[in-house]
Amino acid sequence: MATPADITAMRRAIALAARGLGSTSPNPVVGCVITDASGHQVGEGWHQRAGGPHAEVHALRAAGVLARGGTAYVTLEPCNHTGRTGPCAQALIEAGVARVVYAVGDPNPQATGGADTLRAAGVEVGAGLLADEAEAGNLAWLTSVRTGRPFVRWKYAATLDGRTAAADGTSRWISSAESRADVHRLRAEADAVLVGGGTLRTDDPHLAVRGVEGATQPLRVALDTHAGLLPTARILDDAAPTLLVVGEDADTRHLPGVDILRLPLHDGRVGVHELLTQLYARGIRSVLLEGGPTLAGAFLAGGAVDQVVGYLAPVLLGAGPNALADAGITTITQALRLDITETTPIGPDLRITATPKGA
Ligand SMILES: NC(=O)c1ccc[n+]([C@@H]2O[C@H](COP(=O)([O-])OP(=O)(O)OC[C@H]3O[C@@H](n4cnc5c(N)ncnc54)[C@H](OP(=O)(O)O)[C@@H]3O)[C@@H](O)[C@H]2O)c1
Repeated sequence: MATPADITAMRRAIALAARGLGSTSPNPVVGCVITDASGHQVGEGWHQRAGGPHAEVHALRAAGVLARGGTAYVTLEPCNHTGRTGPCAQALIEAGVARVVYAVGDPNPQATGGADTLRAAGVEVGAGLLADEAEAGNLAWLTSVRTGRPFVRWKYAATLDGRTAAADGTSRWISSAESRADVHRLRAEADAVLVGGGTLRTDDPHLAVRGVEGATQPLRVALDTHAGLLPTARILDDAAPTLLVVGEDADTRHLPGVDILRLPLHDGRVGVHELLTQLYARGIRSVLLEGGPTLAGAFLAGGAVDQVVGYLAPVLLGAGPNALADAGITTITQALRLDITETTPIGPDLRITATPKGA
């Protein structure tokens, strides 16, 4: 039975884990809090980057000898394998921790088994405390382990009647400055930010993170089937790395030094799942899909959207392009139904977060 102190410590560990979002891939985000034998917090830590110490190691270092006889609260089952760092289960045993409470079991076949190792060494182990909260915090990584492709979050901004521009094409700015700042936070949490060729040509987007302290810049990915991009495009500056995805026969000689991914075309288009497979192979575990509507439609048609984040502005237009283009849905029984997981006012706008039903 979890005590209020257990819940407080685990909630702190979940908050610590979130600090790693955007910088730990291909690893999960993990937070850890250690209390001494009398229940006082003596150490905390989070996994900050792949290849660096795990959360437990940071927290054990902070706790020192005070960890002996104490409790470790970890958002994910302590790992059991030696990768770039040693097994955390062993580190906890050697530190003399008497009890380990973790929120979510490790689904990674290479790393799982930490709980058994701890129990075999006589450590009391509890599982499942605040599991839903911890899972939500690790949604991208857990989804990528389950699906074998990066987690995809589709973000859009629209008027209350679902338009992303006026009939004459003008669109700046539908959503508020507060919403646009919030999008920078979403970019900072993602490993990659993706746009289609239409957006690339119309908006000349920059896509780097601004205004988020300590942010790791995501990989900027743009689909440009025929490599029409000019070398002066803002996405090619050195604010963040960029990957240009082109058809296999595209002429890219005018883009020396640009990281190019060539993919076969199907009906003149890059395959959504082929693209995601290639990004996964590059260590990308989460993608922020920033549109536009055509590309979002292709991702939805391919069943490759795991979460939708819509910024709805209190504005009406009545005409103009919709937030979403054809997603292969022709009749109401095919409609993609979503569960709303959060609604949050952002400045004058409303941010709605939703996931496909049954996901
Ligand atoms: N309000 C918002 O949240 C928001 C966000 C983003 C964009 N926008 C607006 O959306 C407009 C552009 O949208 P759009 O629908 O014209 O274009 P888009 O969705 O940005 O890009 C579609 C293009 O991507 C390329 N592509 C390659 N493989 C694809 C695939 N499998 N599926 C779909 N596209 C693929 C194709 O261009 P190529 O053949 O040339 O490569 C295709 O025409 C702009 O006006 C922009 O301002 C609004």
